[in-house]
Amino acid sequence: MARSPDRLRNSSRRATRMKSESRRPLLSEERWLEAVENRAVHVGVVGMGYVGLPLMRTFCAAGFCCTGFDVDSAKVAKLNAGRSYIKHIPSSLIKQVIRNGLFTATDDPASLKACDAILVCVPTPLTESRDPDMRFVENTTHLIADHLRRGQLIVLESTTYPGTTRELVKPILESTGLKAETDFYLAFSPEREDPGREDYTTESIPKVVGGHGPGSLKIALALYDAAVDKTVPVSSCEVAEACKILENVYRSVNIAMINELKVLFDRIGIDVWEVIEAASTKPFGFQAFYPGPGLGGHCIPIDPFYLTWKARQYGMTTRFIELAGEINTLMPEYVIAKLAEALNTKRKAIRGSKILVLGLAYKKNIDDIRESPSIEIIERLQERGAKVDYNDPHVPRTPKQRKHDLGMRSKRLSEKMLGSYNCVLIATDHAAYDYDWIVRHARLVLDTRNATANVKTGRKRIVKA
Ligand SMILES: NC(=O)c1ccc[n+]([C@@H]2O[C@H](COP(=O)([O-])OP(=O)(O)OC[C@H]3O[C@@H](n4cnc5c(N)ncnc54)[C@H](O)[C@@H]3O)[C@@H](O)[C@H]2O)c1
Repeated sequence: MARSPDRLRNSSRRATRMKSESRRPLLSEERWLEAVENRAVHVGVVGMGYVGLPLMRTFCAAGFCCTGFDVDSAKVAKLNAGRSYIKHIPSSLIKQVIRNGLFTATDDPASLKACDAILVCVPTPLTESRDPDMRFVENTTHLIADHLRRGQLIVLESTTYPGTTRELVKPILESTGLKAETDFYLAFSPEREDPGREDYTTESIPKVVGGHGPGSLKIALALYDAAVDKTVPVSSCEVAEACKILENVYRSVNIAMINELKVLFDRIGIDVWEVIEAASTKPFGFQAFYPGPGLGGHCIPIDPFYLTWKARQYGMTTRFIELAGEINTLMPEYVIAKLAEALNTKRKAIRGSKILVLGLAYKKNIDDIRESPSIEIIERLQERGAKVDYNDPHVPRTPKQRKHDLGMRSKRLSEKMLGSYNCVLIATDHAAYDYDWIVRHARLVLDTRNATANVKTGRKRIVKA
């Protein structure tokens, strides 16, 4: 459950007290625990993105003063002006924590020195050759090392391969001459944020914590225990790192399995979504996963390959991960093949057709388009000569990304415009859409999410993909 705004208001009183107390370095475990109790620990969050911002909010709500450090000075300026750039974190909340003296954002790494705990939430993408791209973690660790002081707690939260904290982060920090566990504390605690979820928040999702040693574990646990509902201690940073990768591999493999079954059942003439609904009535031993147009987001399409890379160091292959990646990657092409088939029944080819893609975000009710299959579908359709537009109530225009720059704007939906497209392709099942209305006014609907399951009229115009 989210902590109430009252809690944020009450926290401001503690903030003033904390400023004077935290200037003394927290050298001993006892002093650390006492400082946590008194909310006299100054928390630095590095990377003010989808993960860092909610984490900062959680610590502020628990009464801690936070500094948000990001290398993107435009983001820093927005935050300090009280503006949020992430849909589910309202600007009013940023304004409130600033007003209460609980939060400032900065792009000055020197300000990390004043932080007692530094929680790192920077990106962990893949390189062109699909190996871990550790540049962000490395750069951040160097910045922290430049200002590292005795008594600080450093926690990596970015998703990564088992061994990162010990093999990559620790040596950089120890190049300062200070030693982990003796001079500073080091831990790994994976972020399990699921943007757009309303039933769980950063506070209510149990936090797995692994320490580099017993002292680091104790202190990291004490800090997180003060901010989240439940912590789960594990015996090492490696276990905590592996735990997060397991969670993501589990999703990737199961989604791939259901995507493969979708294709097979479609050939046989069986509706996979009806099968899943029926199977879900089993009270044990079955968990529903749903097919879709392909994997998206910062985690599931990427993180499993961190483990694949690590496995190679041990002379092993991760066949489940590779196979899941292969099947999931084929899904946008499958959607296009189904579109071509559906258009064919109307004596149309993809070339020259007008297609409207509904939903650019990689999953419903969010504005995140990273790795979204919609982008790939749009690009592939354009390559094949289709004229493509999109609508997404959460993404008014397409931002420039590392690999894509569509330069498109979301089209306003109307009855007339829906009818002007040869096909409306539902790529993301946002709750904001009125699917009855869409089907009523579209000529043909390709539904990749079973979003039209409850539509009563015009079902003949719907093709599932
Ligand atoms: N987004 C999710 O749903 C989610 C969920 C669980 C875990 N994660 C993991 O959390 C980590 C962060 O993901 P995210 O989605 O918040 O990324 P993001 O891109 O939204 O945010 C990362 C931020 O880090 C900043 N940054 C980059 N290098 C920096 C540096 N050297 N110093 C300071 N700031 C720097 C970027 O400017 C950006 O604002 C990744 O490892 C990701 O896999 C993400």
